[in-house]
Amino acid sequence: MSKQTELTIRKCLFPAAGYGTRFLPATKAIPKEMLPVLTKPLLQYGVEEALEAGIDNMAIVTGRGKRAIEDHFDISYELEHQIKNTPKEHYLTQIRALIDKCTFSYTRQIEMRGLGHAILCAETLIGDEPFAVVLADDLCDNLDGDGVLKQMIELYDKHRCSIVAIERIERQDTDKYGVISGKEIDSGLYHIDNMVEKPLPEDAPSNLAIIGRYILTPDIFDILRDTPPGKGAEIQITDALLTQAKKGKVLGFEFEGKRFDCGSVDGFVEATNYFYKGSLS
Ligand code: UTP
Repeated sequence: MSKQTELTIRKCLFPAAGYGTRFLPATKAIPKEMLPVLTKPLLQYGVEEALEAGIDNMAIVTGRGKRAIEDHFDISYELEHQIKNTPKEHYLTQIRALIDKCTFSYTRQIEMRGLGHAILCAETLIGDEPFAVVLADDLCDNLDGDGVLKQMIELYDKHRCSIVAIERIERQDTDKYGVISGKEIDSGLYHIDNMVEKPLPEDAPSNLAIIGRYILTPDIFDILRDTPPGKGAEIQITDALLTQAKKGKVLGFEFEGKRFDCGSVDGFVEATNYFYKGSLS
């Protein structure tokens, strides 16, 4: 059997249609996912994490004003020509390798109706198979260990159900995340029984927050279609996952590694300092 047919998760979805209002005015003409930490845009880190996990099929949900994303994962002939055989050529080595190894497919979310809706928009790109989701503004790193997606795919191979990456947060921050509760069935692994989108600290079922890494089984599309708008009048993936958890099984996984919330200015600066220090060592 070829390596390709053995893979359980072949596609990674990157919802990248949001407005990125917390980064205005920077995100007026540049997609948030294209903001660089050092010299690489956030989305490129996400694509590299997916590739490390064995996924080479990238599905990206974009929106108006996001064409820079497609141009980034394409060849720029003029630039290639200008720097060919010069000392600067090596700057393009990493992105060239990614373009060679991966295929990229795109769809547009016409109206920004929330993360759940963005995922539903990608149904035709994904089809009837389990898939990974990466929110590129959550930048993850696990030094020399396996990346977060790789850890999650190993877990998926054992449990064959949707899995969300979770992290313990300060109680006062629960209103920024989807928050889960459940029974710990293994160290750091929870069988989820409740999930609430952005609860106030006093209403939160725990301080275990969902971060931007998911493995989803394809029945999530039908569930999303039937999920009414929730918090912020948006179609929430958290609400759809709760339905899935009630019908069957959804796991929460406390991953190994660091996560930076690059959708916020503080997290972005923290990530920049962390990766800069790493680049010096
Ligand atoms: P966020 O809420 O963090 O992104 O959504 P945002 O809306 O772009 O940022 P702010 O709050 O205005 O600063 C999480 C992820 O879901 C995507 C975003 O692009 C981001 O990757 N998303 C969100 C969509 O693709 N479509 C949507 O309708 C909403």
